[in-house]
Amino acid sequence: MKKFFIVPSILSANFSNLGDEIKNVIKYGADLIHFDVMDNNYVPNLTFGPVVLKSLKKSGIKFDTDVHLMTNTVDTLIPVFAKEKVKFITFHPESSIHIDKTISLIKSFGCKAGLAINPSTSLNCLEYTINRLDLILIMSVNPGFGKQKFLTYVLKKIEKVRNLIDKNNLNIILEVDGGIKKDNISDLLKAGANSFVIGSEIFCSRSYKNIISEIREIIDKYFI
Ligand code: DX5
Ligand code: ZN
Repeated sequence: MKKFFIVPSILSANFSNLGDEIKNVIKYGADLIHFDVMDNNYVPNLTFGPVVLKSLKKSGIKFDTDVHLMTNTVDTLIPVFAKEKVKFITFHPESSIHIDKTISLIKSFGCKAGLAINPSTSLNCLEYTINRLDLILIMSVNPGFGKQKFLTYVLKKIEKVRNLIDKNNLNIILEVDGGIKKDNISDLLKAGANSFVIGSEIFCSRSYKNIISEIREIIDKYFI
């Protein structure tokens, strides 16, 4: 059976206490930590870069990182993130002049490569890349901010990608990012997603332990 990933996005975490925020969600069952890198250019918001990740790792916190690059340039950032031994690096096709070369660059460091597709962007970019990808990230909000509303028309797109993956017998994680809440996870599971990037629903909740176990329960129950 497929593995299902709960991936808290630290965009909604308390940055004055970031290390403990990460430790807590990992302790309560998060699989990966989603690291939203924004440059105030590709998206109208500015967040953090490799220096922050480096200091989190240096402080001894153990976690696997899912880097989501929302920057106009990616090829210069990839080696710096790879140095921090991140597991996944995902980029948007518009940010790379040579998508194939960027995928190779990510893989050359032993990281897994992901391609992120905005809500109204076509799936065409998968035609010649899908065989080389480890992860496909379907954006269910326009990238840039947390706490946005889930765009339901994206569900059809998730289904299409799931069919594409299965038809080609590929082992690719189908991740969704934006507006994910307890009450729409079943729709995403039904559409075929197996990785859920969740920001505000986790970090704005009162108990990380409760919210993560409730989400895990929804996933587990779906398959009974
Ligand atoms: C949006 C980011 C998301 C964001 C999700 O551009 O890529 O990862 O943090 O946050 P929520 O879950 O609050 O929509
Ligand atoms: Zn993201």
